[in-house]
Order: sequence, then C-alpha cells, then structure tokens
Amino acid sequence: MRQESKTRLQQSLFKNMISASLFLVMTMVMPLLVSLCPAPLHAEPPSDWLPSEPLKGRIVFEEKHCTRCHSIAGTGGDIGPDLAESYFDGTFLDLASIFWNHVPDMVVEYKRANLAWPQFSDEEVAHVISYLYYLRYLGAPGDVSRGQDYLKTKGCFSCHSVGGEPGGRRGPALDRLKMYASPIYVVQAIWNHGPEMQAMMNSMGIARPKFTGQEIADIGAYIRAVSKWTMRESVYLSPGDPNDGKVVFARKRCDACHSVHGVGGATGPSMDDVDLSMSATGIAAIMWNHGAEMLSTMREERIKWPTFDGKEMADLIAYLYFIRFIDEPGNAPRGQALFETKQCVSCHSIGGVGGSVGPDLSMRLSTRHSGISVLTKMINHAAKMSEEVLSQGERWPVLTGQEMRDIFAYLVATGEESSSE
Ligand code: HEC
Ligand code: HEC
Ligand code: HEC
Ligand code: HEC
Repeated sequence: MRQESKTRLQQSLFKNMISASLFLVMTMVMPLLVSLCPAPLHAEPPSDWLPSEPLKGRIVFEEKHCTRCHSIAGTGGDIGPDLAESYFDGTFLDLASIFWNHVPDMVVEYKRANLAWPQFSDEEVAHVISYLYYLRYLGAPGDVSRGQDYLKTKGCFSCHSVGGEPGGRRGPALDRLKMYASPIYVVQAIWNHGPEMQAMMNSMGIARPKFTGQEIADIGAYIRAVSKWTMRESVYLSPGDPNDGKVVFARKRCDACHSVHGVGGATGPSMDDVDLSMSATGIAAIMWNHGAEMLSTMREERIKWPTFDGKEMADLIAYLYFIRFIDEPGNAPRGQALFETKQCVSCHSIGGVGGSVGPDLSMRLSTRHSGISVLTKMINHAAKMSEEVLSQGERWPVLTGQEMRDIFAYLVATGEESSSE
C-alpha cells in the first residue's frame, strides 16, 4: 500500500514536470505553430489595435536576437535583465517607452556583441511589445500537491472524485478535464455549471469557494496528474485571441452591465477601473469570485447565466487582459511643446523649421502613418540617433508613454497637414 502511494507520488511528480514543460510549450513551441498560419495585421493606430496572437512576438524576439542578452523565465542570455521578471504593465506605448529609454545602453551592448542594430516592420514592433506584455498572462505552472490540498480544503471532494480516489458522487468525476492543457478550461467547466453547483452547495450548507489564480493553476495541474482519463489526444486550444474575446464580451452581454472605455452598462464596475494585469487564471478567478453577485444581478436583469464553448472563455479573458494595453489618443498641442523641450527640434525640422541633423519629420509622415509606424521608425533609427545624441554631448531623450502618445499625435497631425497641402 505504502509502496503504491510512493510510486503514485513519483508518477505525479513526473507529471508535474510535464505540466511545467507545458508552460514552456506554450511560450516556446506555440508561437512556431502559430507562425505557420500568419494572420494579417491591420495598420491601425495603437489606440485601437489588439494583437490576435500575442505569442507571435516570441518569434520576433528570437529573430532579432533579443535572447542573446535577455532570458524569459530563465531561458536565454544574461547580459540584460530577465524580461519575465519585469512584468511589464501599462499600455502599448508605456511599454514601448521602457524599451526606448534603454536604447543607449542596448546600443552599447549590441556593438560589444558584434550584432547589427535590429530593423523592424510595424507588425514586428507590435508583436514583440505585445509578447512582453503577455508574459504575465501565461502565469506560473501549477503545483500538483498544492492542487490536491485545495480540492480537499475547498470541499470539492464532497461532491467530486478524480483519479479513482474516493470522493463524492453528486457531481461528475473530474478526470475528463485532463484533456485540456490549460487550466482556463477547468474554469470554463466550473463556470458553465456554476448555478447548479451553487444551488447544490447552498442546500448542503457548503460555502461557495473562492480562488486565486495560482490555486486554479494548481488544481488544473493536479487533475492532469492523477486523472484516469485515457483518451490519447489533448486539446491544445489557443491561449486566447483578444480580438475574438471582444466579440465574446458583446455576445455574452457582459457589456449590458460593464463598460469598456466609456461604452456599455453601469450596473457592474467599468472594466477600465478593474485592475486585471495578472495571469489568465487570475482573471478567471476574479470572474468566478464575483460570480455569486453577478448571478443574482443577472437574475434581476433577466439575463441568462452565460456559458462558454470551445475557446470562448480563453478569448474573453485575453480580451479583458488586453483592455489596459490600448492607448488613449495623445494630445497634439502638448506633443508640439514636448518636441521642443525634449530637444527633438535641435536635430529635426517640421515643415522646414528646426535642426537638420536628422530628417524633416513632417515630410516623411503622411496621414497613413499611425503611432506604431512612428515608433517603428524611431526604433529602427535608434542606434544612429543615439550616436548623434552622444556625439553632440546631449542626453538621450527619455520619454514616458504619455509623452510618446502626445508627440506621435503631433507628428501624425503634421503629416496630415503637409499631405493635404
Ligand atoms: C546585446 C545585448 C542586448 C540585446 C540583443 C537586447 N537587449 Fe534589451 N537590454 C539590454 C541591456 C543591457 C538592458 C538594460 C539596460 C539598462 O539597464 O538601462 C536592456 C533592457 C531592455 C528592456 C528594459 C528592461 C527593464 O526591465 O526595464 C527591454 C524591454 C528590452 N531590453 C527589450 C529588448 C528587446 C525586445 C530586444 C530585441 C529586439 C532586446 N532587448 C535586445 C541588452 C540587450
Ligand atoms: C455540493 C456539491 C458540489 C461541490 C462542493 C462542488 N461541485 Fe463541482 N459540480 C457539482 C455538480 C452537481 C456539477 C454538475 C452540474 C451540472 O451538471 O450542471 C458540478 C460540475 C463541476 C465541473 C464540470 C465538470 C465537467 O465535466 O464539465 C467542474 C470542473 C467542477 N464541478 C469543479 C468543482 C471544484 C473545483 C469544486 C471545489 C471548489 C467543486 N466542483 C465543488 C457539484 C459540486
Ligand atoms: C447583469 C449584470 C452583469 C453582467 C451581464 C455581467 N456582470 Fe460582471 N459584474 C456585475 C456586478 C454587479 C459585479 C460586481 C460584483 C461584486 O462586487 O462582487 C461584477 C463583477 C465583475 C468582475 C469583477 C470586477 C472587480 O471589481 O473585480 C469581472 C471581471 C466581471 N464582472 C466580468 C464580467 C464578464 C466577463 C461578463 C460577461 C461574461 C460579466 N461580467 C457579465 C454584473 C454583471
Ligand atoms: C541629436 C540629434 C537627434 C535628436 C535630439 C533626435 N533625433 Fe530623431 N533622428 C536623428 C537622426 C540622425 C535620425 C536618422 C537616423 C538614421 O538615418 O538612421 C533620426 C531619425 C528619427 C526618426 C525616423 C525618421 C524617418 O523618417 O525614418 C524619427 C521618427 C525621429 N528621429 C524622432 C525623434 C524624436 C521624436 C525626437 C525627440 C524625442 C528625436 N528624434 C530626437 C537625430 C536626432
């Protein structure tokens, strides 16, 4: 008997390693799969751009040799910081500005490593920045033994069994969930049965369990480790497409009660005010933890409890995560002032007025150039620009995300004027 439980433990440790490597599969191999089916990227301003496949940026990250100096969660070089530890927060341009501000140091390291400064397309810039933003979303892999503890302490075993262990029979055995590689699908399954489960818990006097994101990851890891489900294939569903999730948000009528960027109902909190910069399972946990209140509000408003199929919940959660990534439009007059105070004007002219070390920026930027392409140009020229800045004894123009929004709004507006002349 003891021997048996020991091998069981060994097995589950082994499977835990598998689920840890699943995390790596998600971050490393998935992008390669994704890259086989490229999707067109729309040339929209960052203010309403959402990535369809945030993991695609992983490929750019490798192609541009970022891994020579940076690790992601321990894998890669160590000249620069491990970018998974930075946990980037903020909008697209907030993140871009972090990169921008490090340019002079990076230029030095590129030279020392004998690497040419990378050149990007607009798509590549958009993808690599989305990818860095996305790292936190992937979260840490689950822990099998903690998962078992949670199922016990949260009372799940009084209605469910898993892996042939004795457990309750009021609910279905949880083994089937093994086929889903991502714990988001465990949440989706719990969510879909939420009202029935809640009613049964009420009648048995069991408190509705609350979760953290890590607990959900741990429970998913445990189910995968001990499940007796024998079906061979696993369902590797997408970790979520924010664009599809935007559609799900409307279709499931979340917008009847929640607003995004000022549009939508006001019965529930505005999604602009909810901080969801956390892992996917963390967001799932928040939704679940508010489920009881949402259920009663939905009943009052005669809205059916929404259930989710396939990758709908993954998409929805990816969308919720990316809401804060979207930049508000910048302020062009403020951008004009910054163009002077940040010394851009000492090297660049607008409409012929200003310095001539760098190119005239109004000539080059037509109406079609969105914020992303201004950024791309700046990054592509950054090595040369930093040489000029340093040789003139000037300081690198450090920018915040807000300053970038404002300057870009100004530059794009000058392009509009000059192209309409
Ligand atoms: C040759 C080495 C090297 C390469 C290649 C490199 N970096 Fe860096 N990077 C650095 C160093 C060094 C720093 C830290 C600079 C500092 O502290 O100011 C840094 C800083 C950063 C930061 C800011 C990190 C933080 O926590 O504030 C970001 C973001 C970043 N790099 C992204 C990238 C991306 C994206 C690529 C690929 C396009 C890349 N880096 C390629 C050396 C490199
Ligand atoms: C009071 C009994 C009860 C408790 C306690 C309970 N459940 Fe359930 N659970 C059910 C019932 C009943 C169903 C099926 C509901 C239905 O058919 O709609 C269900 C369904 C599920 C499903 C969907 C299974 C599938 O195959 O689609 C999951 C996942 C689940 N529960 C997880 C949990 C977890 C995790 C806990 C502990 C936090 C828990 N349950 C606690 C009764 C319970
Ligand atoms: C009938 C109205 C209603 C609908 C429809 C609704 N919600 Fe909610 N939601 C609420 C209310 C009310 C709260 C606040 C509950 C509380 O305070 O615990 C809430 C809370 C939340 C929270 C937590 C916010 C916080 O402050 O942490 C999230 C996330 C959320 N809802 C997402 C969704 C999503 C996604 C959908 C669509 C699947 C949805 N809601 C549909 C009413 C609704
Ligand atoms: C010390 C001089 C200098 C300063 C200060 C400077 N730049 Fe530049 N900039 C350059 C040079 C030189 C180039 C062209 C580099 C090349 O050809 O690779 C350039 C290129 C650019 C480009 C690409 C233009 C194109 O059409 O491809 C943009 C956009 C740009 N800079 C924006 C800015 C902004 C915004 C500021 C202020 C925050 C600024 N620059 C400050 C020297 C400077």
